[in-house]
Amino acid sequence: MTDFMQVDYDGLIPNNVGLNQDDRVKKALEKWHPGYIDWWMDMGPVGFQESLVYLRTAVGVGSNGWAKFDYVRMPEYKWGILLAPQVEGRTVPFGTSKGEPAWQEVPGEHRAMLRRLIVIQGDTEPASVEQQRHLGTTAPSLYDMRNLFQVNVEEGRHLWAMVYLLQKYFGADGREEAEELLRRRSGDADTPRMLGAFNEQTPDWLSFFMFTFFTDRDGKMQLEALAQSGFDPLSRTCRFMLTEEAHHMFVGETGVGRIIQRTCEAMRSAGIEDPYDVGRIRALGVIDLPTIQKKANLHFSLTLDLFGSEVSTNAANAFHAGLKGRYHEDRLEDDHQLEGQTYPVLRPVDGVIQAMDVPALSALNMRLRDDYVKDCQKGIDRWNRVITSAGIDFQIRLPHVAFHRKIGEFKNSLYDIHGNPLTTDVWSSRRDEMLPNGDDQAYIEGLMAATPERQPGKYAGWIAPPRVGIDNKPGDFEYVKLA
Ligand SMILES: [Fe+2]
Ligand SMILES: [Fe+2]
Repeated sequence: MTDFMQVDYDGLIPNNVGLNQDDRVKKALEKWHPGYIDWWMDMGPVGFQESLVYLRTAVGVGSNGWAKFDYVRMPEYKWGILLAPQVEGRTVPFGTSKGEPAWQEVPGEHRAMLRRLIVIQGDTEPASVEQQRHLGTTAPSLYDMRNLFQVNVEEGRHLWAMVYLLQKYFGADGREEAEELLRRRSGDADTPRMLGAFNEQTPDWLSFFMFTFFTDRDGKMQLEALAQSGFDPLSRTCRFMLTEEAHHMFVGETGVGRIIQRTCEAMRSAGIEDPYDVGRIRALGVIDLPTIQKKANLHFSLTLDLFGSEVSTNAANAFHAGLKGRYHEDRLEDDHQLEGQTYPVLRPVDGVIQAMDVPALSALNMRLRDDYVKDCQKGIDRWNRVITSAGIDFQIRLPHVAFHRKIGEFKNSLYDIHGNPLTTDVWSSRRDEMLPNGDDQAYIEGLMAATPERQPGKYAGWIAPPRVGIDNKPGDFEYVKLA
């Protein structure tokens, strides 16, 4: 088996998949490339395309030193195709084919299911770039602007990663899907992106940070599940994407954390103890903690819908087929086939939410979502430590999983953030205390529009500076050289 570990960095498309020896796929990708650039100029970041941004570019797939940092104009970013190293002797880790050699070609009987998994993952990548395209102008610092653009170019690369799989392994219908990925548009009435949360708006920086904390973390969970795939090229692609994804969640967690920190500092120096004294807190030009909680409620609930129905035959089939595994499948100790086993699923029974055992195979979405919630909670705990050490009596909490759902067991009923059922009337009267309302949104957008910061080392008044720079750069480093 040939393994192209060396990254060819000189051509149009940097890669470690031996594109130069694969004329058919190389031509297909070169044909797709101009459409991609058109999409980027059309739907990517508004403005700043001529600016020099201090970006990291993946130049290898080793565990250390896989990226290099340099000033790049975004349209000239090297969107490469990089797969994690092939693991010698890897076998299908789960499902009915468990133990067979991992597939290097698409198994014919699973072709349609595999293509769909790749397309759904691929569709989320450009969608988030589209959702975030207006944020550059209100960036609270050059540091944050750079992080936004870093996330954007890497989501672009993730699209390339999925398009490579489609072009390489799925022939004509793969090429058609690759075109469709450039045609759909986030929030478009006629050609929307495939999943709900990716058609929502990201209208401000608090939303951006919440999105990268909550929704990119769904991305991480999906990639973790696909990294276990018996289809080896998908596994290797996802394993490398995960190394990039970690930075996106770092941006989200530290972004929200820095907003919380700034709010707490401003409250303390103004002598405000009551976190619900919203008027006085907003007069300080910071974002009150209850509004931050409401944004978390919104983005958490939208993201939970991305896991799909708790009980799902599609999920069972994908596992059965060896295509999509569980979080850390390779570290779990069971038979990896799950026949005859059960898993508890939360569902409403006569108005009461109860855990009910269902076949483990059909509860895989629920299980992945449970792992996701645990992962979220760790970051929330870190936010709360900031609030506690400022001596403020407030904690950010994840809302109940039944709250504000459009997919799955809870979609037909209304619940508050504690999981108590609500009538439509009560929901309407209490909605504004649980989710961002028009006033909250107007305040946040007004604040951010009024205080963009473009001086190196300076930060808008509603967010604390980061503790360390990107690539260990000093505090006044010019992360974006504005054109
Ligand atoms: Fe991504
Ligand atoms: Fe991401």
